[in-house]
Amino acid sequence: MSVDLLLGLQWGDEGKGKIVDVLTAKYDIIARFQGGPNAGHTLVFNGRKHVLHTIPSGIFHEGKINLVGNGVVIDPVIFKNELDKLEEVGVDYKKSMLISRKAHLILPTHRIIDAVSEKSKGKKKIGSTLKGIGPTYMDKTGRNGIRVGDLESDNWLEKYRNLANKHQKMVNFYDVDLEYNLEELEKEFFAAVDVLKTLNFTDSEEYIFNAQKNNKSILAEGAQGSLLDIDFGTYPYVTSSNTTAAGACTGLGVAPNSIKDVYGIFKAYTTRVGSGPFPTELFDEDGETMGRIGKEFGATTGRSRRCGWLDLVALKYACQINGVTQLMMMKADVLSGFKTIKICTSYLYKGNEIEHFPYDINSENIEPIYKSFNGWEDDLTQKEDFNDLPKSLKEFISYIEKELNIPMSIVSVGPDRKQTIFV
Ligand code: GDP
Ligand code: IMO
Ligand code: MG
Repeated sequence: MSVDLLLGLQWGDEGKGKIVDVLTAKYDIIARFQGGPNAGHTLVFNGRKHVLHTIPSGIFHEGKINLVGNGVVIDPVIFKNELDKLEEVGVDYKKSMLISRKAHLILPTHRIIDAVSEKSKGKKKIGSTLKGIGPTYMDKTGRNGIRVGDLESDNWLEKYRNLANKHQKMVNFYDVDLEYNLEELEKEFFAAVDVLKTLNFTDSEEYIFNAQKNNKSILAEGAQGSLLDIDFGTYPYVTSSNTTAAGACTGLGVAPNSIKDVYGIFKAYTTRVGSGPFPTELFDEDGETMGRIGKEFGATTGRSRRCGWLDLVALKYACQINGVTQLMMMKADVLSGFKTIKICTSYLYKGNEIEHFPYDINSENIEPIYKSFNGWEDDLTQKEDFNDLPKSLKEFISYIEKELNIPMSIVSVGPDRKQTIFV
């Protein structure tokens, strides 16, 4: 059977966790394929909120397999914390979780390098989540990394020590002050590694291949968003992995022709956390209202998210790169009460109007051109049927569908699992 993908079309935090949880019932296997604990995926059900960082968002459903693919980077310490939280709520993850032997490990020294690298950049910092993501992927592509499968070999500690020693030299190279206690960090790390080793390690590409052969359905869960992709995002203000559809092929070992549906998920407005260009960013009351009503604070770092209007130029770009087949719009409820709602439909770029996403979207080059829509007053959070949505919201939705030439399959009207309207 084929594989479906769910991906963020903006700068992350679109609501991927919520929708993966909603869709899990339809699938046998939920698989993460890239990123790591920089992600924060929020699920809300039965009056309780859960935040996952590395563990796939299908974990709360019994009888489903949750697979952490080779493209993911794992921090054993954060992973263990996630497991502890699952245990608290009685989730039996031992049988339902699989971890790829080829996934790379985030070492304590990767986090330290991330911190000194950011500090040394000053105002030009990426605004990384400081989880060691960049340095870990650098070691992966530099062919120095330590993988989950290494934990099964006798000499992994030697490998660890060599790499950690090298990292310490790199830290000294940065010449910035950072206080840390490596001994303490390592104690915590090795304890967490022992817990990780009690889980099922697998050759996940083989597992996925056989699962497809045996007609199992698979949903691949993206992390971050398309505009944070290492190749297609707003470089260098991006993450260090391919967050777009191709990342699912390399991050799971899935062949391109076995991918069927690509669910593209976006907010009815835009948010971004960390540094980097953001053409439709608002610095006025409207932006403040979106942040307040939408509770726009990072699920991983707690930082406030920058807010702005929906950017259709960027959205179109993301749909093209990912081959999106179905759209899912989140947080429509947050826009209730706005008199006018805007969509950026083109950019004024170096004096010319353009409709494509250019190489450089820095604010000195770009001015967004907007189309205005009537707002709606209705509280959407109790709506269950698409037909009951206000007329102006339906117009907003059909404009987006028409411009992107992709149908909308879900409109989300609140954080809870139940606040999901299937179109
Ligand atoms: P992810 O990283 O893509 O999984 O998204 P996050 O969990 O980081 O951020 C999405 C936030 O919006 C979380 O706090 C969700 O609980 C919340 N959320 C998701 N969908 C909706 C929605 O339709 N309406 C509202 N108001 N909140 C939502
Ligand atoms: P989810 O999966 C939003 C951002 C960081 C920073 C940049 C690089 O929850 O949508 P990194 O730590 O990856 O080196 O940071 O990417 N970032 C995210 N922003 N949602 C995320 O994940 C993010 N993961 C990384 O804020 O700007
Ligand atoms: Mg998030």
